[in-house]
This record gives sequence, structure tokens and C-alpha cells, in this order.
Amino acid sequence: MSDQFKKQAAERAAQDVTPGMRLGIGTGSTAEFFVRALADRVADGLDVIGVPTSERTRSLASELGIRLTTLDELPELDLTIDGADELDAGLSLIKGGGGALLREKIVAASSADMIVIADGSKEVATLGRFPLPIEVVPFGLKATTNAIAKTLEAAGLPEKLVLRGGAQDPFVTDGGHYILDAHLEAIPDAQSLAGRLVDIPGVVEHGLFIGLATKAYVAGTNGVKTVVPA
Ligand code: A5P
Repeated sequence: MSDQFKKQAAERAAQDVTPGMRLGIGTGSTAEFFVRALADRVADGLDVIGVPTSERTRSLASELGIRLTTLDELPELDLTIDGADELDAGLSLIKGGGGALLREKIVAASSADMIVIADGSKEVATLGRFPLPIEVVPFGLKATTNAIAKTLEAAGLPEKLVLRGGAQDPFVTDGGHYILDAHLEAIPDAQSLAGRLVDIPGVVEHGLFIGLATKAYVAGTNGVKTVVPA
């Protein structure tokens, strides 16, 4: 069922793409539906160019015939369309469940607009039930983990950090980094936590996307609704 909703939200967003647009193209299962819907429009003659947010998206989009470039070639984009792990009423997001948060955030920040596509299960009153991905450099992993734990403690949050993939075979991002998933349950002040996390040496990026999404299409049993930041 959730796949069907993801597809509906993705197909709705694909309708917002207009000729000549410079697009950021997201990562994840919902974004994959968008890539397929966009490819159908491209096959029908729509001329757009896209910057993928991961190697995974690059290979799918290129296989499906979507013209691609890099953010270095095209540093200003019109619109990014991407999924999310959680979104609240203000369109603050948790992203990075698929591990592409760093490129996703750089691409979204380079775009005039960002549309989030999601099934209704991603909507929350307070962010944090989904573990917050924190991307870190492998060097000094233990020290960085300790520093993040101290920061979480100071913010009154649980310090449970899990290295994605485990110590024997850690998940490695497209940028060559590791991900620590922070099991926080609820993040009452996402803005403040975001600021504290980026101040920690060794932290490359985190999955809190605040002030980036300009619209969301959320699909559920009552169809696709449009959400704008409250
Ligand atoms: C990828 O790194 C993520 O930010 C995805 O956008 C997010 O995990 C949503 O993924 P699904 O669309 O697969 O739920």
C-alpha cells in the first residue's frame, strides 16, 4: 500500500516539472518512482536536465534516458524533488535513511524550491521517531561518537548512537563517510540540535533538513494532499 502512495506522490510532483527546468533528483524508493515518472515525460519530449543526489539515482536516471549533469556544471537549480523519512507541519524533515543525506542537502540548498514526496506514514507532529542519520568521517570515529553523545546529553536527548552496518562492515556513503543513527524518539527543538551537531569536528552533515522544503505532496487513502510550511 505505501508503495502505491509513494508512486502517487511522485507522479503528482512529476507534473510540476516544466520544460527547461534544472532539477535536483532525490534518492530512495519514493524518489525512484519520481525518476520513472520523469523518464516517461522525457520520453514524451520534455526537455530537462538533472543533478542526481546519489550514484544510485545517477545510474537509474541515466539508464532511463534522463539528461544528467553535475552540480559543478550546474550549481543553481530550479527545483529538487526528493523523499523524506519524516516531515512535520513546518516541513522540517529527517532524511538520510537511504544514506544520501549529504548530497541531498547540498543539492536541495542549491535549488530555488524543494518538493518533498511521501506517503502519509512519514507525517509526524514532532520529528525524531525515525533515527536521525549523522554522517561522520571514519577518522576518529570513537572520539566523534563520544562528542555527539555529549552534545545529545547536553540537549537532554538519549545518547543511543548506532553505527549503520555495524563495526565489522559499516555502511559507506557516496562521500566515503560513515553514518551514526541517533535514536532520539522525539526532537523538541530541531533547529537548536542541528546547530549543535554541525559544530562537532568529525560530523560532516546530519539528516535534519530545516527551511529547505517549500512544498510536499503527501499521498494516503484520501488521495494526494499538498502541504506548505505552516
Ligand atoms: C535517502 O538518503 C533518504 O533521504 C530518502 O529520501 C529517505 O530515506 C526516504 O526514503 P524512501 O523514499 O525510500 O522512504
